[in-house]
Amino acid sequence: MVIFGVTGDLSRRKLLPAIFGLWQDGLLGSAFNIVGVGRQEMTDDEFKDYAVKALQESKETDAIQPGSLEKFRELLFYEFGEFGEDEVYDLVGQELDRAEAAHGGRKNALFYLSTPPSLFEPISNGLGRLGLADQSEGWRRIVIEKPFGRDLDSARELNAAIHATWDESQVYRIDHYLGKETVQNLMAIRFGNAIFEPLWNRGYVDHVQITAAEDLGLEGRAGYYEEAGIVRDMLQNHLMQLFALTAMEPPAAFDADAIRDEKTKVLRAVKPIPLDRVDQVAVRGQYGPGSMDGERVPGYREEPGVKPDSRTSTYVAVKLEIDNWRWQGVPFFLRTGKRLPKKVTEIAVVFKRAPLGIFPGGLERNVLAFRIQPDEGVSLKFSSKSPGQEMVLREVVMDFRYDAFGAQLESPYSRLLLDALIGDATLFPREDEVDHAWQIVSGILQAWDVRPGKGRTPDFPNYAAGTWGPEDAEALIGPDRRWRRL
Ligand code: BG6
Repeated sequence: MVIFGVTGDLSRRKLLPAIFGLWQDGLLGSAFNIVGVGRQEMTDDEFKDYAVKALQESKETDAIQPGSLEKFRELLFYEFGEFGEDEVYDLVGQELDRAEAAHGGRKNALFYLSTPPSLFEPISNGLGRLGLADQSEGWRRIVIEKPFGRDLDSARELNAAIHATWDESQVYRIDHYLGKETVQNLMAIRFGNAIFEPLWNRGYVDHVQITAAEDLGLEGRAGYYEEAGIVRDMLQNHLMQLFALTAMEPPAAFDADAIRDEKTKVLRAVKPIPLDRVDQVAVRGQYGPGSMDGERVPGYREEPGVKPDSRTSTYVAVKLEIDNWRWQGVPFFLRTGKRLPKKVTEIAVVFKRAPLGIFPGGLERNVLAFRIQPDEGVSLKFSSKSPGQEMVLREVVMDFRYDAFGAQLESPYSRLLLDALIGDATLFPREDEVDHAWQIVSGILQAWDVRPGKGRTPDFPNYAAGTWGPEDAEALIGPDRRWRRL
């Protein structure tokens, strides 16, 4: 495995611990090496020290068994150079030869691009120029981190540039939400049980809410975030993936193409958002100063590196409609934001009310909620008679908690890295999925970023840190529906 940008944050905090965990569990075989590639000059030994330190410091590292780190060090090598020049790819090629000489077998290689997006194309091209994408001596795959493009046009250009070297079957675009155990459980519950399918449609479902709330603010990522904003950072990828898995048709088989075909079909069926309707179906926000856990926290514009008059959004809520038989007339409400009161990701299928109210009081809607994180699980909310003389109904919740399995959930990166290594692309968005996800959000980006001033521009900041987002979000879902209090 060759990691470009190995000295970056992602590699230090997530990739190295995930690989180490897989290796320690004996899942990577004995002929596995890691070649780190960076622009920083370092010897192999310095890199080994760097990686061991990263493993010791990361919260994501599994319990380290005695002697493990010493053995793991032996798998590590380092090359440095400029990603625009051939020399570095030549050195990578030599590393593959060396590994082959040491271990025998085929020269399989997974290239992981854990770099800023501006380097995706040069690295892909460089590998291509030096023949490293050629599969005659072993399989070759490329993993590309997000963001995949910054809008529809740039995503298409990037896809075209990548395809100049790689066949789509060699390309693994990573979205770590798909590696989350409970996201996969959504498919297990939908397609492994017969009782949900008959209810999963416009006949029974009133609407669906997908929430990815974060309590954290910027975490020192102003440079990236000022350019990206919440739509590119979370909505186009993570939330669109959760949406597609919830709304897709049952696939004919549990394999990469069958599943990705269905996800693409449902993304294609989303009603386009015309520029002049964006304000009716989408709400944006930016957090101001506020308090969290009793402590004052700064507003977005006060974060280091953020412009004092920044118009970057840190919250978005959007209403999507799907033009197909299953979902005609059923809105999907998606919301995500930074500095909300807590970290919680959830998909809630909210059912229609019973057709006739024969008991005193109003009827509530049943809710099937998939809790993606934390406290992973599934719950069903329904009404029950409250004990006592009177016929009073109360809402109760039936709960399945993932910790009932008694197993530690593995990190999304472990799952996805192993899948990429064994060549299973089921949990990696395909070119057409990414394209359709961009098509859906491009109206929003056009109206908000490219042509600001079109439509109503909210006064930023419009929600205080530690609250559930701007007031307009209530109007978006209301008046007869409301966001779940999580
Ligand atoms: C990343 C975004 O992709 O996902 C971050 O760039 C965000 O801004 C993170 O904080 C959230 O991931 P998770 O797994 O913590 O929900």
